Amino acid sequence: MVGNAFYLQDRLAAIIIFQVLVIPCSLLSFSANLPVSSSSSSSAATNNSYNVISYGAVGDGTTDDSKAFMKAWKACCEDETHNSALVIPQNRTFLLKPLQFSGPCKSSNIHFKLAGKIVAPNKKQDWIGSHINAWLTFSYVNGLVITGDGQIDGQGSAWWSHPCLNHLHPGITCKGPSALVFYRCNGLLLSGITHRNSPRVHIILSNCYDAVISNLRITAPATSPNTDGINVSGSRNVTVKDTYIGTGDDCIAVSGGSSFVNISGISCGPGHGISIGALGKGGRDQAEEIHVKNCTLRGTMTGVRIKSWQGGTGYARKISFEKIKLIDVNNPVIIDQFYCPRQINCQNSTSAVELSDIRYTSISGTSGTDQVINLSCSRSHGCTNISIERVYIKSTTPGKRVYAKCINAHGTWSHTVPDVKCLLP
Ligand SMILES: *[C@@H]1O[C@H](CO)[C@@H](O)[C@H](O)[C@H]1NC(C)=O
Ligand SMILES: *[C@@H]1O[C@H](CO)[C@@H](O)[C@H](O)[C@H]1NC(C)=O
Ligand SMILES: *[C@@H]1O[C@H](CO)[C@@H](O)[C@H](O)[C@H]1NC(C)=O
Ligand SMILES: *[C@@H]1O[C@H](CO)[C@@H](O)[C@H](O)[C@H]1NC(C)=O
Ligand SMILES: *[C@@H]1O[C@H](CO)[C@@H](O)[C@H](O)[C@H]1NC(C)=O
Ligand SMILES: *[C@@H]1O[C@H](CO)[C@@H](O)[C@H](O)[C@H]1NC(C)=O
Ligand SMILES: *[C@@H]1O[C@H](CO)[C@@H](O)[C@H](O)[C@H]1NC(C)=O
Ligand SMILES: *[C@@H]1O[C@H](CO)[C@@H](O)[C@H](O)[C@H]1NC(C)=O
Ligand SMILES: *[C@@H]1O[C@H](CO)[C@@H](O)[C@H](O)[C@H]1NC(C)=O
Repeated sequence: MVGNAFYLQDRLAAIIIFQVLVIPCSLLSFSANLPVSSSSSSSAATNNSYNVISYGAVGDGTTDDSKAFMKAWKACCEDETHNSALVIPQNRTFLLKPLQFSGPCKSSNIHFKLAGKIVAPNKKQDWIGSHINAWLTFSYVNGLVITGDGQIDGQGSAWWSHPCLNHLHPGITCKGPSALVFYRCNGLLLSGITHRNSPRVHIILSNCYDAVISNLRITAPATSPNTDGINVSGSRNVTVKDTYIGTGDDCIAVSGGSSFVNISGISCGPGHGISIGALGKGGRDQAEEIHVKNCTLRGTMTGVRIKSWQGGTGYARKISFEKIKLIDVNNPVIIDQFYCPRQINCQNSTSAVELSDIRYTSISGTSGTDQVINLSCSRSHGCTNISIERVYIKSTTPGKRVYAKCINAHGTWSHTVPDVKCLLP
């Protein structure tokens, strides 16, 4: 279908070129010196821009600008110049209800220029009638570029204490909206923006290939539940770099189906550190080639963590954590194959997601807990080929002894304090 659309487009372009060519020569040499109109769809050099103000957005922070944004998006998405831009101007605050920026778009590159501020409704009632899974969803948009020094504010506080839309009976668990969701967006580039106070996860990257996320600032109070910074799942060839994340849950969580994910230059804290998993909840999961490098964790509840449920299958392998600086981090190095939050209805099983080829190199700093390395692997499967090298972790309390503990973990260690004699060959 897409192929056909492009084919038609090429035909159209050919017709336009043909018509240009039949202009008399005298006219042609004259018109060749004219600047190319910015609205010309046959020009590759200029990019058409769609300012949300021109589509009726007010930007006073109280008017609902959703309709204007959707109109501007539609025009931008249908632009055939292959480099269209949606412009959100500075010094204005746009209130948006839950919105879907859906593709596929005709433009092969869409630039979302965020200079102003986008805010979510601060009352839950404004969500009635919408899907409450997500606030701003981009789906099937390839070549999406989101840049600018603008801000996204999820105004999540109403959801943190009670994540249900309505008051439901106790015992029913609800999940509030995640702020920014990318689903099947290949070639995404997200950079520069400040993102705060999501009702739930700040950024979800799901089933996206070839993404680069950089220079963001993601913040929410340490006490806000489930406000993970970035959740990557089912995605391949992803770079997350040079970003500050301080929230109430994982700074970055890499979930099942992800591969070739490089995370570097992250400053994380407060929060729950950088996690892979939880994998294998009631099924098969695969994750490989995940590399975390040059990151600083400050005051986080856990450091670098791989977690999986009992009873899962599949694997997580070729994972590395390198050049990690720890400042007063609790539980800095964790493998937990018995993951079961709050220890409610924990399953006991002999099947497990297989963990192998995991490298910890040059990790140093201080910990608020005594057990600084906790490698708890499945009793039936174990973790294999773990390598620990140049890991030096002290207690935050001077002179206090720290130690490592393992269950069924196999591998080697060197130049590491505390010693990891519990590693099996
Ligand atoms: C058009 O878009 C491309 C890709 O986003 C960018 O490199 C180029 O500078 C833009 N050109 C103009 C005139 O804005
Ligand atoms: C936004 O505000 C700043 C500071 O007041 C000003 O310098 C800038 O020109 C304004 N930009 C626009 C587009 O109005
Ligand atoms: C990975 O993604 C980057 C950025 O989009 C792209 O330039 C590169 O070609 C991709 N690499 C592979 C192996 O697909
Ligand atoms: C991340 O997203 C995946 C897919 O939606 C989900 O299964 C997983 O629980 C999420 N992880 C966290 C830590 O929220
Ligand atoms: C990740 O980093 C490794 C080297 O550390 C590099 O070979 C690989 O290409 C990088 N992958 C991505 C997706 O940037
Ligand atoms: C390491 O990360 C910091 C940001 O935390 C960045 O400024 C620095 O350039 C990175 N160093 C390397 C070698 O990538
Ligand atoms: C180490 O991890 C295991 C598995 O989750 C857990 O049961 C144990 O309490 C942890 N040890 C410490 C000291 O936190
Ligand atoms: C799982 O095993 C633990 C310890 O062996 C036990 O306390 C718990 O009751 C078991 N749970 C189930 C659901 O069988
Ligand atoms: C162990 O893991 C490392 C990567 O950490 C890999 O290079 C090596 O080939 C693995 N060794 C075996 C025997 O699989």
